Amino acid sequence: MSGEPGNRGSSAADLGSPAPDTVVIRGTRCTLRAFRSDELDTLIAALHSVGEDPAGFAGPRETVGDEREELRRRIAASGRLHDGWLEFAIEADGRLVGDVQGRGGRRMLPPGVYELGIELYDPASRGKGIGSEAVTLITTHLFAKLGAGRVQATTDVTNVPMRAVLARLGFREEGVLRDFMPSRDDPAGARNDYVLAAVTAADWAGLRGATRP
Ligand SMILES: CC(C)(COP(=O)(O)OP(=O)(O)OC[C@H]1O[C@@H](n2cnc3c(N)ncnc32)[C@H](O)[C@@H]1OP(=O)(O)O)[C@@H](O)C(=O)NCCC(=O)NCCS
Repeated sequence: MSGEPGNRGSSAADLGSPAPDTVVIRGTRCTLRAFRSDELDTLIAALHSVGEDPAGFAGPRETVGDEREELRRRIAASGRLHDGWLEFAIEADGRLVGDVQGRGGRRMLPPGVYELGIELYDPASRGKGIGSEAVTLITTHLFAKLGAGRVQATTDVTNVPMRAVLARLGFREEGVLRDFMPSRDDPAGARNDYVLAAVTAADWAGLRGATRP
């Protein structure tokens, strides 16, 4: 992976303000940017409200030894490629409203493949086109700046809004991942089926033009 400044390991210095080499991507409805260190408490409250794992995966919350430390690292690493992951805060109307990630790296996926994750914390922020724009902006960045060949996403088969976002943007559903995610609602161990959807670099260029977000 190349073309992204500041792909470095975390250190004590990383735990302060966003590094100057972080990327900012502006759209019309939202801006993707690094988290600010003063957003730690806001982020903790938001993730608890939606039940998201601080490590960045959806699903039931796991017991995390030091959640604040985990989230400090996440904040410090945001806004630039870090260990194969690219995470942004989503800002709309001057407020932090969610997060979006392109998750990759040698330990997770083949080179040039990223998996998206996105969460708008407050239901009041949803259904206004912010999610569609955030997915568009990060996907374009992954293809145009990080040389991605494929961007994929998985979502619960019952997640109508996310499936609608992906379909509208041109992601093609490729199949169902059976018993993929532990259910949030069933501590007895039920697992939910997820849809896998993806877009290739060629698809994206054809759909939107090579440079237009
Ligand atoms: C999924 C999510 C990121 C989508 O972002 P968003 O800003 O709400 O999405 P948009 O407003 O851009 O588009 C939502 C689409 O879903 C449709 N939609 C929303 N709720 C719906 C419902 N209950 N039934 C059918 N369609 C619905 C909207 O009509 C729209 O489709 P359209 O553009 O074709 O009309 C956001 O809703 C969210 O954060 N949800 C909770 C977390 C989550 O599910 N994350 C994804 C995990 S993989």
